[in-house]
Amino acid sequence: MTKMTALDEIHQFLPCETPDSWIAVATRPENLSLLLTDHAHCEKKAASTAMTLMFRYVDRPDLLNKMSRLAREELIHFEQVLAIMQDRGMEYGHLTSSRYAGGMRKHVRTSEPGRLIDTLIIGALIEARSCERFAKLAPFLDEPLAKFYRSLLKSEARHYQDYLFLAQEYAGGPIDDRIALFREAERELIELPDEEFRFHSGVPVEAVAS
Ligand SMILES: [Fe+2]
Ligand SMILES: [Fe+2]
Repeated sequence: MTKMTALDEIHQFLPCETPDSWIAVATRPENLSLLLTDHAHCEKKAASTAMTLMFRYVDRPDLLNKMSRLAREELIHFEQVLAIMQDRGMEYGHLTSSRYAGGMRKHVRTSEPGRLIDTLIIGALIEARSCERFAKLAPFLDEPLAKFYRSLLKSEARHYQDYLFLAQEYAGGPIDDRIALFREAERELIELPDEEFRFHSGVPVEAVAS
């Protein structure tokens, strides 16, 4: 699959496009350090989530292999973001999480295999949204950063496909209703006003007020 068709597929899977008001805030020079810090956190968390699944579902070889590779790739992305921050004299530090992942996780079923399927669907949405934001941000960034964000598209698109594939594989039946539920939750998190600016935040409150 080429980069272009993978991105088309991601646009179809996601319930909405990233609002221009988010891009406007994300591309302000004074927000670059915050954007990169949260991006680094997201990469680290993506690796951690994949490893949590590996500990929880030890009897699923396909999941173990895909999540192991994914965790390694996310940690490499983490190191790449750190290096970019260091080059630019930016300090990496603690940051509160956005409402995004938690806002979807509160809908996860508590019994298996529902819990696994829902977690995998959320993984697919997070990867797809990251991919879409990297692509939409790239034209507004300086060249080294734009090049880096474009380089991430391919792996994040594959991560999205892996999560969706695993969700379908382990569900043993249609998951359209669960996908629809999480797409709707995702759309709200992206399109409703958000007080905090983060990599996966919603419409900046200042954009709503003005
Ligand atoms: Fe990543
Ligand atoms: Fe990823």
